Amino acid sequence: MTARLVVLLSGNGSNLQAILDACADGTLPARVAAVFSNKPEAFGLERARRAGVQAVAFPKQEGESRQEYDRRLAEAVAAYAPDYVILAGWMRLLTMAFLGRFPQRVINLHPALPGAFPGTHAIERAYAAWQRGEIDRSGVMVHLVPDEGVDAGPVLGMEQIRFRPGETLEAFEARVHAVEHRLLVATIQTLLFSGET
Ligand code: GAR
Repeated sequence: MTARLVVLLSGNGSNLQAILDACADGTLPARVAAVFSNKPEAFGLERARRAGVQAVAFPKQEGESRQEYDRRLAEAVAAYAPDYVILAGWMRLLTMAFLGRFPQRVINLHPALPGAFPGTHAIERAYAAWQRGEIDRSGVMVHLVPDEGVDAGPVLGMEQIRFRPGETLEAFEARVHAVEHRLLVATIQTLLFSGET
């Protein structure tokens, strides 16, 4: 069976690209039904169009509350009947108005280890903590999003990344992204093959 994925993102979409490539080469028995972005200018939407996938710009409307936005987003996403909703660089908090529509079906990617550096700029903050001698590794995790906790929830996959002596932020960041692309696809693959769709 081919699973249906909806991807939510806010920026570059390199992780979306990893998913699209994995669907195209058969690594994932899935197809991306639609890509949504709260940022109409996100390059991830362009990646979707290039792959022939429905790209939906979904900015917040003026005067709209967070709950109202989330309800409207949930309605629009539900129209694509996703087996899983993947947050791949989605940089906006989701309330239960959205999450309650897709229990056990929303998956988030975060560029740090469980419990570490929730929120934005996790890679930069981990690098700074290493430079201060506070940590010797960071990592990447993929987890379920059960509630409104930020970058928190049951862990589905994680990988540690040790800092290398003298490495630059750019070099570290590139390694984090390479791990993300691999781990996100592998975790979705495990979910799909565990027959839960
Ligand atoms: C990724 O590093 C992802 O882990 C991070 O945003 C980036 C998106 O990159 N997400 C978070 O920080 C969530 N708190 P991409 O647009 O190239 O896929």
